[in-house]
Amino acid sequence: MAGNKITLSVIKADIGSIGGHIKPSSKLIETVREHIRENGIDLFKDFYVSSTGDDIAILMTHTHGKANKDIHKLAWDAFIEGTAVAKEQGLYGAGQDLLKTSFSGNVKGMGPAVCEMEINERPNEPFLFFAADKTDPGAYNLPLFLSFSDPMHCAGLLLSPKMSKGFTFNVMDVSHVKGDRVISLNTPEEMYDLAALLRDNERFVVESVFARSDNGQAAVVSTTRLHNIAGKYTGKDDPVMLVRTQKSFPATGEILSPYNIGHFVAGFMRGSHVGPLMPVKLNSTISYFDGPPVVTCAAFCVHNGKLTEPVDAFDHAYWDYVRNEVSRKATEIRRQGFSGAAMLPYSELEYGGIVEILKRLDKRFKVRN
Ligand code: F6R
Ligand code: MG
Ligand code: MG
Repeated sequence: MAGNKITLSVIKADIGSIGGHIKPSSKLIETVREHIRENGIDLFKDFYVSSTGDDIAILMTHTHGKANKDIHKLAWDAFIEGTAVAKEQGLYGAGQDLLKTSFSGNVKGMGPAVCEMEINERPNEPFLFFAADKTDPGAYNLPLFLSFSDPMHCAGLLLSPKMSKGFTFNVMDVSHVKGDRVISLNTPEEMYDLAALLRDNERFVVESVFARSDNGQAAVVSTTRLHNIAGKYTGKDDPVMLVRTQKSFPATGEILSPYNIGHFVAGFMRGSHVGPLMPVKLNSTISYFDGPPVVTCAAFCVHNGKLTEPVDAFDHAYWDYVRNEVSRKATEIRRQGFSGAAMLPYSELEYGGIVEILKRLDKRFKVRN
């Protein structure tokens, strides 16, 4: 595939919000946007700053490749400047995701979530920018599996000879903290092996997907686990994702298709529950039980690094129907409160409270003969 080499970078953080963990203030978003505009003019080709729930994401197009120090520093500094405004306004959780104090070349491992891909820009290059709040990176596992390997969601696997060659999934073991532990699996041959890993959303996370027809990168997901960096709960990992669509990749509608399931994901209140993932309109807030977990999708075309305006992929009457169905699922699981499947297993409980209760009670157990 010939074309311009460009890099799409998304760097995202929760640096404070209004009324709890709901939504950043307009002034905060504007501060981040202005910082990027004023300081990055010689660095990027284009950019887009947006919020999903309490998170702010910076999308940049540029020619400096992945993990570029200047691009990462620009985003880091924008979040630092934003944090000062968040503090000034008394926003809740000001600077929450900035876990380190000084910038060391790359925001990975410093708190913000990152996903980037370097691509050969096609003459017309449609892509989708997903951002989710009140959940974690494994939330994209099932939709990616279905869009790229299941003809029930992706008709192209049957109807497009290119796509029937399948895809390569790179899956990361996010429980491995000393470096990136990754496996590559090819579909369709290794679909069952892939499913066996992806059933465990908290441990195995799809990091990227490539087309086997032309080796072009289709998707990239942020894989940060904040508690691995901080050693304790500091907020959920609220993942971002980029997906290129059409031609050798699934069509936009095939990528969106699995979001009508409202599958149950980890997150929701205090990052400790299970709730259905609701596809919402851009700029939606967070509400019921600090949730439900939400995902937004901004569709773009990029040409010579210049972005079109975003189109809100979930702003359509069809998704109103889905949102009602997902609300029903959220209400249903909430009816059982803390019991069983409604709350995450002990190993995933983000708040220390329950761990302490169980430790305290442990001493009071007596073994009867
Ligand atoms: C979940 C989330 C919220 C908070 C909850 C308690 O990702 O952000 O559900 O965990 O509102 O927040 P704190 O502990 O800050 O009072
Ligand atoms: Mg938050
Ligand atoms: Mg968040």
